[in-house]
Amino acid sequence: MRELSKEDLEQHRLNLDIYGYTRVPNYMPQDVVASALKRVNDLYDDNTDALVEGRPERDQLDRVVYNLQNKDKFFIDLLSETAVKGIVLPKLNDPYYRFLPADVPNYILSYYNARSSGLELDLHIDSYIPSPGDHTWVMQAVFVLNDMTEENGCTVVVPGSHLSGRYTERKLQDLKPVHAKAGDLVFWDSRLWHGTQANKAMKPRWALIATLTQWWVKQTMDIPRGLTEEIYQSLSDEQKALMGFCSIPPSDEVGRNNTKCGYDFLKPSVKDYFQ
Ligand SMILES: [Fe+2]
Repeated sequence: MRELSKEDLEQHRLNLDIYGYTRVPNYMPQDVVASALKRVNDLYDDNTDALVEGRPERDQLDRVVYNLQNKDKFFIDLLSETAVKGIVLPKLNDPYYRFLPADVPNYILSYYNARSSGLELDLHIDSYIPSPGDHTWVMQAVFVLNDMTEENGCTVVVPGSHLSGRYTERKLQDLKPVHAKAGDLVFWDSRLWHGTQANKAMKPRWALIATLTQWWVKQTMDIPRGLTEEIYQSLSDEQKALMGFCSIPPSDEVGRNNTKCGYDFLKPSVKDYFQ
């Protein structure tokens, strides 16, 4: 993976602050892109995808592989790369989380899918509520695996809209396309108004999309409870914390009444957390 200089990191942080998104070009070498694509294609199964409960109508032409954190540690390792942490940590780490050192993530993974979009997707926010101000609580990290072109569509954004404090206005014209190439890494503040163009050619447009949140936001998937024992055993303490194992709400007040924990709280096995 491409290392980012201090100046690069500063620029990406500035882009996120002001525009609400940023793109790291040529972040992944092409052999890593090819390896990620192979894994996604091997994992993708039309039939399983069609059976997913509650899948909205507008997503019917999307191809999705859900819960990448449960499929292959390769996907978790992508999130632990220095450049990813360098961009996300200043935005999502809680500075008052005293149970972990300040230079390691206390933010967590909320949702992690591979997606190849089909239909146009209207402008929306992924933060559920809009809120103006410097502080965000949720971001998307997108590892682009296929070029996004006019033919297969791309993400569109309204730069700066994350600071509007407003839900999206879908009649808005002149949306800005984010032309990304295979190997790019794109981040956006989830308050940003964004959507996707239609994949007219219905050609693959795979990207890995990780939703990362501050430690106190309820995860979209119950990642600690759902993680396989095999993957859990392969993770570093830092990665276990990223999956949410250091911020599981206590089920009663006996023994613990604090949701924030350090690495000393980590248990030998997934089942030990939920007895
Ligand atoms: Fe979105």
